[in-house]
Amino acid sequence: EKIVLGIDIGGTNTKIGFVSKNGKVYFENHFSTESKKPFENFISKLTLEIQNLTYKSDNQFELIGIGIGAPNANFYSGQMEYPPNFKWGDFVPIVQRVKQVYNVPIRFTNDANAAAVGQLLYGIGHSMKNFVVLTLGTGLGSGIIINGRLLVGEHGVAGEIGHINVNPNGRMCNCGLQGCLETYASVTGIRRTVFELISEMKEDSSLKNVSFNEMTGETIANAAIDGDKIAEKAFEFTGEILGTKIADVVAVLDPEAIILTGGLVKAGKILLDPIKTHMEKNLFSAYKGKIKILTSKMTSSDAVIGAASMVWNNQQDKFN
Ligand code: BGC
Ligand code: NA
Ligand code: ZN
Repeated sequence: EKIVLGIDIGGTNTKIGFVSKNGKVYFENHFSTESKKPFENFISKLTLEIQNLTYKSDNQFELIGIGIGAPNANFYSGQMEYPPNFKWGDFVPIVQRVKQVYNVPIRFTNDANAAAVGQLLYGIGHSMKNFVVLTLGTGLGSGIIINGRLLVGEHGVAGEIGHINVNPNGRMCNCGLQGCLETYASVTGIRRTVFELISEMKEDSSLKNVSFNEMTGETIANAAIDGDKIAEKAFEFTGEILGTKIADVVAVLDPEAIILTGGLVKAGKILLDPIKTHMEKNLFSAYKGKIKILTSKMTSSDAVIGAASMVWNNQQDKFN
């Protein structure tokens, strides 16, 4: 059987899987990206993980292509360009390097764009023509679907919503700018909020015993569910900033829905409620009551499927 390998490179974890023509994922797996170690370390790990997948699949598949989603991907150049959350250099020649190992057709796009394509083809975006996917993980990514097509942009890098400004005097972002949305609304962002609140608030908190790197979205969500005041406040603050910025995005694009995915979304209602409240509050009258905030219902990685489906569809244009 012919198969496409889908790869979703994240700031923390990388997901891989074999994807069939009808979007079914076989032998999905993930491993730690180690974005602060050299790029060659990642290539070695990736190669090994792909070999493991091939071994597990008992060589039943014929690899006909690879689809890759990556942060700060520029599909025109095949490189990650100035990835703020990676120490792999300013220009990372992913496509060229993977091609040296696997000489098959490769399609390359932004990780959140891949997620949006996955949602469009096999997720809740299937019935929609206009929507935005926001991925809340190590960073904040976005993929914009307009008139049923992915928005690519003049330079191949449309949809960097994570780096729009929230506060000119705000937090420093790894991209070098100050006050970017992802410094607040991402797993890393909410952690920073928790640590700020711990130093400002007198309340006792179970989060005081958790180190920065061990604090996941789920850790904070569970604390909030247990009535932890600092965790509750962190979600309220994050939801306010994100909801307010989503209202800006709506004013530009007039989408049917915003689809949220990524580690932070596992928090559920505790994050979604303040997002909805503050979006609605800041929406221009023409949009009020009309914009849906949804979460992904897909069981496999939307970005793995989306990246692979770009090879199946051979639509460099439509899905960039
Ligand atoms: C990057 C985006 C990426 C997002 C999620 C951001 O920091 O600029 O390109 O989609 O993180 O990985
Ligand atoms: Na994007
Ligand atoms: Zn930034």
